[in-house]
Amino acid sequence: MTTESLLHQKTQELISAAGLDETKKDKGFVERLYPRLPLIHRLFTEIYASHPDAENQFFQFIESLIMGYKAREKALRIRDAEKAKKGIWFLSNELAGMSLYVDRFAGNLKSMPEKLPYLEELGVNFLHIMPIFESPEGESDGGYAVSDFRKVDERFGTLEDLISLRKKMHATGMYLMLDIVLNHTSHHHDWAKKAKAGNKGYQDFFYTYDNRWIPNEFDATMPDIFPESSPGNFTWNEEMGKWVMTVFHSYQWDLNYTNPVVFREMLENILFYGNLGVDLLRIDAPAFIWKKTGTASQNLPEAHALLQLIKQCVQVATPGMAILGEAIVAPKEIIKYFGTGEFIAQECDFAYNATQMALQWDMLASGETQIMLNAQHEILKKPYGTSWITYTRCHDDIGLGYDDYMISQAGKEPYQHRKFLKEYYSFSDNQWMSPARGALFSSNPKTGDARISGTLASLCGLEKALIENDEFSIDLSIRKILMMQAHSIFLGGLPMLFYGDEIGYTNDYSYQNDPSKSYDNRWMHRPIIDWEKVARSKKEGTVENQIFSGIKKLLSIRKEKALFSDLSNISWLSPHNIHIAGLVRRMGNDRIYCLYNFSDQAAYLTWYAFREQGEGSEFLKDLWSGEEFKIGLDQEYLIIKPYGFVILEPK
Ligand code: GLC
Repeated sequence: MTTESLLHQKTQELISAAGLDETKKDKGFVERLYPRLPLIHRLFTEIYASHPDAENQFFQFIESLIMGYKAREKALRIRDAEKAKKGIWFLSNELAGMSLYVDRFAGNLKSMPEKLPYLEELGVNFLHIMPIFESPEGESDGGYAVSDFRKVDERFGTLEDLISLRKKMHATGMYLMLDIVLNHTSHHHDWAKKAKAGNKGYQDFFYTYDNRWIPNEFDATMPDIFPESSPGNFTWNEEMGKWVMTVFHSYQWDLNYTNPVVFREMLENILFYGNLGVDLLRIDAPAFIWKKTGTASQNLPEAHALLQLIKQCVQVATPGMAILGEAIVAPKEIIKYFGTGEFIAQECDFAYNATQMALQWDMLASGETQIMLNAQHEILKKPYGTSWITYTRCHDDIGLGYDDYMISQAGKEPYQHRKFLKEYYSFSDNQWMSPARGALFSSNPKTGDARISGTLASLCGLEKALIENDEFSIDLSIRKILMMQAHSIFLGGLPMLFYGDEIGYTNDYSYQNDPSKSYDNRWMHRPIIDWEKVARSKKEGTVENQIFSGIKKLLSIRKEKALFSDLSNISWLSPHNIHIAGLVRRMGNDRIYCLYNFSDQAAYLTWYAFREQGEGSEFLKDLWSGEEFKIGLDQEYLIIKPYGFVILEPK
């Protein structure tokens, strides 16, 4: 049993062996580390208590932490200190993000800097670069099957290109977000290759089994993630003569975090990314990192403990790097990734507001807001000091992950309602009722579940309207696109646009001809950017121009008002009109109302909706249209156009 003083003493020895200077240069580091040591030790031993070598492993782990800090360059340490001075830097309304694939957006990393002014013009200063570390072409899952966590894939460039891009970005006030694929590696990763060659130590990096007994036990309670392309959770590996756990695709081998060596190796990779200058680290699929037979092997307490431990370590070694947990799970489970109990706001700094994202699509299809409001009691539990990534689309499918009771409480039958949504968004020849052109992703005939693929524009009807050359519908779909963007931009959190959506890219069906992609229809919404199309965004009146300039304006409105910082300052207006989703953001005496009409008819809202919020002003000005309204006099109601919205500031 290690006492606190022994813990301290041994750590001190490691620190001096690493040549750090506790009294001067590295004082900040030890001041962060020492007070956290007992907690770090407790978390580590809780997870690895039954491991025969736990104590020894712990000090190796601490050594990795020390080395991670030691490798941090001066410029990044200065940046850490500047961020700390700002308080919780990432809550700011001045940050606005975009996710993109460097190859599909710019060609490669070297060409990225020349595209930065385009992003700057739009108002984007936070870049999520989709996975760029080595990943075998053809078995890459868009880069989420990593064969080397430290080598940039040649397709994108080199590590030096990445560092040089980051330096340019930081110099112009931009922020960088990268992924760490924590749950699995490619089967071409060195660890997997050694496991295949028979190395028992590396076989223990993964969940490997000689026969089907334990795999069957797992499969009995674990859902299928990709039921069409990769059913089941295990794959037989002929070379090894064993079954290996592959929750996602058969070429993605799940890492075994019951092995502390795996955790240490991955912590070193996390700190390596921190030292590349990453401002926000997206931890891919954290819900899956701990497995247990008899459970769904998602959201287990040990997964949370591992994340809490990662958070502590990052705060010590690379404190300027915030953490985003990509947990796309049930609403009440997502919230837990911000930390619970003594770890509130001490786990992930960010999570995706996947619930609201999906509900936005629910509202667009149904024209009604009740189900969305029924989910707020979960969503609004987000603790102060943490934040959401808010978005309309990302590189993944849209999962209708909110709970059935939220649907029932709105008086709808959950199965039928989900069926309606899936039919509404997936294109078929007899899809007479909907302008959306998407496709079902990962349909599971066993459960009836399915998710939805398609670009923002195609799902909002632009693809169909353009094919039919129907001016009225083109206009309507642009209104939908902007309303959906406005809804996510003012929702509270860091808005993350998905590249291509800023100029209305519709689905790209060319993936169907590429055998390495044809099994995965998420590629339909991952466009290859044509810079001539982008140039049309400059030409007044074009579709691209209307969308680009609309989003630009929305981001600039948000950037101007500090109350759009994520201060947990949101309340929803009561549903006087079920078609209108309305919220109020407050800071001190300031307040702004954001209201969205999700129906295809003009929607009328009683002015009482504002008065009951305590609104005393006579006038409200719409920051979007410039229009001014006199409460209750000019007209009896506030009227919002079909798929229109208003951002109202009292005068
Ligand atoms: C995450 C990624 C997704 C990927 C999966 C497996 O959910 O966003 O694109 O397929 O993890 O790595």
